[in-house]
Amino acid sequence: MSALTNKKILLGVTGGIAAYKSAVLARRLMDEGATVRVVMTPGAQAFMQPLTFQALTGNPVHVDLLDPAAEAAMGHIELARWAHYILIAPASANTLARLAHGMASDLLSTLCLATDSPLFVAPAMNRLMWTNPATVENCAQLAARGVTFFGPGDGAQACGETGSGRMLEPEQIRDQLLSTVADKFNSPPDHQPIQDKLRSKHVLITAGPTQEAIDPVRYISNHSSGKMGFAIAEAALAMGAQVTLIAGPVALSASPQIQRVDTVSAISMLDAVMAHVDNADIFISVAAVADYRLETVVNQKIKKSHENLTLSLVRNPDILKAVAALPKRPFCVGFAAETENVEAHAQEKLQRKKLDLIAANHVAGEDNAVFGTDTNALDVYWPATAKDTSGGHISIPSANKQSVAYSLLNIIADRLALIDQKSS
Ligand code: PMT
Repeated sequence: MSALTNKKILLGVTGGIAAYKSAVLARRLMDEGATVRVVMTPGAQAFMQPLTFQALTGNPVHVDLLDPAAEAAMGHIELARWAHYILIAPASANTLARLAHGMASDLLSTLCLATDSPLFVAPAMNRLMWTNPATVENCAQLAARGVTFFGPGDGAQACGETGSGRMLEPEQIRDQLLSTVADKFNSPPDHQPIQDKLRSKHVLITAGPTQEAIDPVRYISNHSSGKMGFAIAEAALAMGAQVTLIAGPVALSASPQIQRVDTVSAISMLDAVMAHVDNADIFISVAAVADYRLETVVNQKIKKSHENLTLSLVRNPDILKAVAALPKRPFCVGFAAETENVEAHAQEKLQRKKLDLIAANHVAGEDNAVFGTDTNALDVYWPATAKDTSGGHISIPSANKQSVAYSLLNIIADRLALIDQKSS
């Protein structure tokens, strides 16, 4: 059974070329066992016919606020009450602005005002519209009111430009809705008390892979998607922290309240971390940083003129070790991706990098796929210290990465509180 089975979802479709993808999204939600009703704005109807959604969902499509026939069948207040969740995809800049300002001049914005059900939005717009300060402020207001954002993603846009603002693919929206619903709205009661544990803390997080250039068109990298690090960033935000997220090259978006710095190589990630570490109380190094980079990056594309090619690599700086060696260091948390002898390798890294805590994930074999997947399981270790002579270990069982993120932050907050208590 899915987290969306028997759920009633009101799918809001607004004006944008991505509206055609909403038809697929409606089907994907129904595949999960959800009942879907569609509300279209006038803008959406310029791109798609209501009949398409009616045929797909088996339910009449709602388009008018002041249509007596539609009101007689299911009034707008009744429709707002009907929905367990409201998902707007695509969410245009115009709709986000109307929601932020509490406008009720069309059916969709009225429904959003007249509900206390969770609201999810998948923005889609031109990259400059997405980064316009007006949109950024509107999104920040909505996020502060508990609206959950899915995307947008990066890439080629319908207008011919490239950048952030593409609506996520229907399957990505479905997956993010599934994990958010499972985690935020069906979360186990033991997640509730942690909400404020990081208030007034500044958490600095690295996430994703790094890319080490070989020539202008090639690079060395790994399979990290950034999902684990981004989940920790969102959970830390929800727990009241001020969050700075140093991201490698990933196709993920973060809540507008998270200060995000995009980087590419290990060196650029190190620079960004060092530029933001001064005020950090906690540093969580989730990034899969490439251990080596090219000794020399050539300016021109390497030609296939030889049968064999040897690349000379040099060690990259260890970002986590460098932060842990700072005189005024934050509470340092490392990750260890291990294929064998997980505990021994994690303990060795904990000692060698002088960490306060390490989270080890098993990454060998199909059952232990962690890179790029939506789930993880962690073994968390911390060292014995002069003040606390018992080192410790807690296992976080397999769950979606959002849930694992909360469990890990809960442990971190408890450890930090203990250390603060002992040093005061
Ligand atoms: O991004 P996902 O697809 O969700 O996958 C998540 C993950 C598997 C990448 C994540 O859970 C994880 O395990 N990240 C650390 C992976 C890793 O590179 O481990 P490591 O054993 O090589 O490094 C140990 C620690 O040192 C890590 O905290 C790493 O961030 C840090 N490190 C390593 C090398 C380096 N040059 N600088 C570092 O800061």
